[in-house]
Amino acid sequence: MSTKTQLLSYLKNNRGTWISGESVSTKMAISRSAVWKHIKALRTDGYLIKSSPKKGYLFQKASDLLLAEEIREGLQTRSFGQQDIAYYRETDSTNLRAKELAEHGAPEGTVVIAEKQTSGRGRRGRNWFSPAEKGIYASLILRPSLPPNEAPKIVLLTSVAAADALSTQTHLDVMIKWPNDILVKGKKIAGILIDIGTEMDTVNYVIVGLGLNVNIPYRSLPEEIRNDATSILIETGKQTPRKDIIKEYLRLCETYYESFNEGRFEEILERWITYANIIGQRIRVDLAGRTHSGNVSHIDADGVLVIIDSTGRTHRIFSGDMTVINEMNSGGSIT
Ligand code: BTN
Repeated sequence: MSTKTQLLSYLKNNRGTWISGESVSTKMAISRSAVWKHIKALRTDGYLIKSSPKKGYLFQKASDLLLAEEIREGLQTRSFGQQDIAYYRETDSTNLRAKELAEHGAPEGTVVIAEKQTSGRGRRGRNWFSPAEKGIYASLILRPSLPPNEAPKIVLLTSVAAADALSTQTHLDVMIKWPNDILVKGKKIAGILIDIGTEMDTVNYVIVGLGLNVNIPYRSLPEEIRNDATSILIETGKQTPRKDIIKEYLRLCETYYESFNEGRFEEILERWITYANIIGQRIRVDLAGRTHSGNVSHIDADGVLVIIDSTGRTHRIFSGDMTVINEMNSGGSIT
C-alpha cells in the first residue's frame, strides 16, 4: 500500500475528528512536510480534507472519482476489482487498455476504469460518448475456459449483471435489447462491448467493456443520439453516485460468472429473458449489410439468438442490430 493510500485510510478511520499533523507524521513515520504533500495530492484526487495550523487535519468527504481506493472500499467480491484496478483520468478506450493488460498476462478480475474516454468505442465501429466524470467507462478482464462460439454467453451474463445493478440502484424499469443494450423507456442508457482474444481455437481472454450514462444532462447529449439515448440523471432527475453502481455491477458480474462456471447458465438465461421480452416477437437483425427477419424462437444453450423466417428456415444469429417490427413499444432500433 502506498504512503498516500495509508494516509487516506488513517484519515478515513478518524473521519469527523481533527488529527494533529504531528500524530499523523508519527503514525506514518514520515516528515510533516511529506504529510502535507500527500494531503495536497489527496485534495487533487477530489477528497475534502480541512487543514488548520492549530488543529491539524479533518477528513470531510470522500472523492467522487472512481479511484481504486474508492471502488475497493466495501466491494463485495472475492476477486473482481480486489487486486488490480487500472485507473485513468483520461484514456482513449478502456477496452484497448484492458486488451493490452490481458495480452501481458493480467489476471482475471482486473478492471480498467477511466473518468473520460477520448475514443470510447461502441459496437459495430460506433463511438461511445464518454464525457468526464459523468458516466461509467469500465472494462473487466475475464479468462473463461470456453470455445469462441460460446462467447455470446458472456455477453448475456454481463448484460444481466448491468441490468440488475442499474435496476437495484436506481429503481428504474430496465430492459435489455438483444444482445446487450440496456434500455430505459426504449432509450439506451448503457451498452456492453466485448473484445475476445483467442489462441488455437480457445478463448484466451474476454474484455467486457461497460459504458453507462449516469449523470449526463439531456442538453449535453450530442444531437445525433438525443432521441435514442438517456441517462440516470435524465430519467430520475437526481445525481447518482457512480461508485455504488460500479461496485454492484462488479459483484453481480462475479456472482453470475461463478454460476456460469458451475454450469448454471440456464438460470442466467432465464433472467436475461425476463429483461428482454423478445421470445415470439417478429424482428429484423442487420448484420454487416445482411438482414434477417423472422420470429424469435428462443435463445439457445450457447446464448445465440434463434429466429425462424417466413419460409420456416431457422437462423442462429450471433450478433447484429435488432429491431422489433411487430410492436410499437418494444424498444426501436438504436443506430
Ligand atoms: C455499445 O455500442 O452498446 C457498446 C458500448 C460500450 C462502451 C464501453 S465504455 C467502456 C468500454 N471502452 C470502450 O471503448 N467501450 C466500452
